[in-house]
Amino acid sequence: MSNKPIIFSGMQPSSGSLHIGNYIGALTQWVEMQETFDAYFCVVNLHAITVPQDPAELAARTRLTAAQYIAAGIDPEKSTLFVQSHVPAHTELAWVLNTITGFGEAGRMTQFKDKSQRHGSDKSSVGLFTYPMLMAADILLYQANTVPVGEDQRQHVELTRNLAERFNSRYGHTFTIPTPQIQKETAKIYDLQDPESKMSKSAASEAGLLSILDDPAVTTKKIMRAVTDADGEIRFDRENKPGVSNLLTIFAVLSHRSVESVQNEFAGRGYGDFKKALAEIVAETFTPIRNRTNELLDDPAELDRILFTAAERANATANQTLNTVYDRVGLLRR
Ligand code: TRP
Repeated sequence: MSNKPIIFSGMQPSSGSLHIGNYIGALTQWVEMQETFDAYFCVVNLHAITVPQDPAELAARTRLTAAQYIAAGIDPEKSTLFVQSHVPAHTELAWVLNTITGFGEAGRMTQFKDKSQRHGSDKSSVGLFTYPMLMAADILLYQANTVPVGEDQRQHVELTRNLAERFNSRYGHTFTIPTPQIQKETAKIYDLQDPESKMSKSAASEAGLLSILDDPAVTTKKIMRAVTDADGEIRFDRENKPGVSNLLTIFAVLSHRSVESVQNEFAGRGYGDFKKALAEIVAETFTPIRNRTNELLDDPAELDRILFTAAERANATANQTLNTVYDRVGLLRR
């Protein structure tokens, strides 16, 4: 038991490789936060099945996601990095939370509205509808104080706060009310081909995505082809020079320098030079992460052991909260 404040965050195992936007926007910040917080990081495989998944791929990506987080610096000795389906209390608490959530309230979640409009209501599962209550359960089981997420998850954390307050006032104080910590604007990374849009795995083309596990030759090619502009000046100007500004941000964050100092270094030089230097820094950052990820995947028994150890810790904390909830609601403990 520590008396550090608690953070909880989750990541979907829905892609083969993390991209540099995940790395800069979330991962490097989590790695820092694990020093000062009691941190829980959860691979949310139960959330992943709210949309169709290939079973073999889901299983592989669950391990792959965990391996990349460890390789990038999440230390399993410091943080509890675990797989959601290893802790049954998540689905058990989600059920209880479903019963105190209004139908209309859940229907107002913009992520659900967007996804169900895109796929049509018959192709949208009830699981997709109850996704936010499962997310609330994730957070509340660990009495998290702070939830680091992207702007797109703010509404889900607001719902979590409302459900926690509602439960507490109906049944007596049970849950800590969590606060969202929204990713910094300066950590936002845009698509290399379409620098007005956030870098995202659902982008139209792979060419705009820098993935952690890409071969350095592929990464270099993508950077050399990144969209810039015609004025030829290496200068940060998000509005008029989104492509160059995005590359400057990536350069600055990965080299732990200010955008200004990078800009000064390259003043008067061409885009080609700048891109070459950037490609080198990206390769230097990602090569050790890629190698470590591959090592971890080469020994799945050891990786599973790490994840099971973490799940034991998570289960102990989560079951404590769930027991209190069951007592309060009048459910006989399991
Ligand atoms: N819904 C989040 C996302 O897509 C992932 C997530 C699941 C999460 N449970 C969570 C994030 C709990 C923070 C806390 O990004």
